[in-house]
Amino acid sequence: MLRALAVLAVGATFSVALSAATIAAEPAKLVKYEIKDGNSIPKSLTGKPGDAKKGREAAIHRKKGNCLACHTLPIPEQSFHGDVGPDLKGVADRYSEGEIRLRLVNSKVVNEDTIMPAFYKTDGLNRVMKKFKGKTILSAQDVEDIVAYLMTLK
Ligand code: HEC
Repeated sequence: MLRALAVLAVGATFSVALSAATIAAEPAKLVKYEIKDGNSIPKSLTGKPGDAKKGREAAIHRKKGNCLACHTLPIPEQSFHGDVGPDLKGVADRYSEGEIRLRLVNSKVVNEDTIMPAFYKTDGLNRVMKKFKGKTILSAQDVEDIVAYLMTLK
């Protein structure tokens, strides 16, 4: 009995932690960033380089990047990869870090018709789920971690 309770308690803590993590996008206060030549955001949103390992996880995470819904990535342990967007293998050969950052923050700056979500923007988003109102899909840290991960794809 005691044992069962302990398991339950662990389970409950875990699911609370998980739901907090999945809606951990930032409140409306956005980090200010500067777009250079309409094509890149040269400076890190956090002022620091991201963590590529965490970025890989955030890219897979369905409530975060969910990049695999539309892109193929060199992530063999995941079986379903999308092909709506370009294969991201070698993306760091095609784009600079700042160009990748802008495409993550708001792809619409580069192509206003793109279906790729603006991951770091609060206004002008279509069909926003209630829990995302006034929040960005990714935090500034997630953006930097994913940028760091994509920069390893040479
Ligand atoms: C709903 C589909 C969708 C999702 C989700 C999505 N993208 Fe995209 N992405 C696209 C499409 C389509 C393009 C092609 C460019 C365009 O539409 O302007 C693109 C382009 C890109 C590019 C430029 C690549 C190139 O070779 O031109 C990068 C980098 C990129 N996406 C990264 C990501 C990352 C990282 C994620 C996850 C955080 C992501 N995308 C999520 C649809 C998506």
